[in-house]
Amino acid sequence: MKNSNELAGINRMTDRNGPFIINLKNYGEISGEKAVIIAKEAEKVCRNLDVRILISPPQVLLAWIVKKTRIEIVAQHIDLKQIGPSTGFTIPEMVKASGGVGSLINHSEHPIDIDTIAKIVERMRSLQLISIVCAKNLDELKVVSNLEPDFIAIEPPELIGTNRSISTEKPSLIKESAYYLETSGTKSKLICGAGINTPKDVRIALDLGAIGILAASSIVKSDNWYNKIHELAIEFKDS
Ligand code: G3P
Repeated sequence: MKNSNELAGINRMTDRNGPFIINLKNYGEISGEKAVIIAKEAEKVCRNLDVRILISPPQVLLAWIVKKTRIEIVAQHIDLKQIGPSTGFTIPEMVKASGGVGSLINHSEHPIDIDTIAKIVERMRSLQLISIVCAKNLDELKVVSNLEPDFIAIEPPELIGTNRSISTEKPSLIKESAYYLETSGTKSKLICGAGINTPKDVRIALDLGAIGILAASSIVKSDNWYNKIHELAIEFKDS
């Protein structure tokens, strides 16, 4: 069966282990051309390790990185606005037309209400875009799981951007989230993030039931992007 890229007519790297999603946020370290450089480093790791890596760049750089690389690109946010008169918003149809394969939704730095999330997930499904909905705690994950996005990323906001990871600080949250998704009948798969800094953080998360990782600052702020992405991505090889 064709994946969303093939259906979109885009021949990009897919079907890797993971996903390992790198959110570039709006960090100065990846502004402009530097976002292309980090995406190309991730692409090399993706190819060398055969691990599925997705990049989520600043919205304004999405189409440029799609053009310059062959790695899968997802938006950082989607707005529930229509094609046509919706100046300044990011709509799913334009993400798809630009070669993006999906989007983060409801990141704790860009939260939206549950009714809006529901409509966005539905619209993305109809466009065969990958939906990755963030949840800040188990209660939110339970509510979001009813919408059956492709992935739910559990991320405690207080650990984001720190060197304290969800894996070491809140392992039970990963375990309980994985258990809930497995037993509730939803098709959504678990990703986790917040403070993922080390290979051990990745290993613990995967061992506790997450199938993917969402990480930002430890990678973007690293002085060797290839090595940092590689040391985290290689943990997917033994899971
Ligand atoms: O979207 C990823 C995220 O919020 C985690 O950020 O810097 O803790 O890896 P960070």
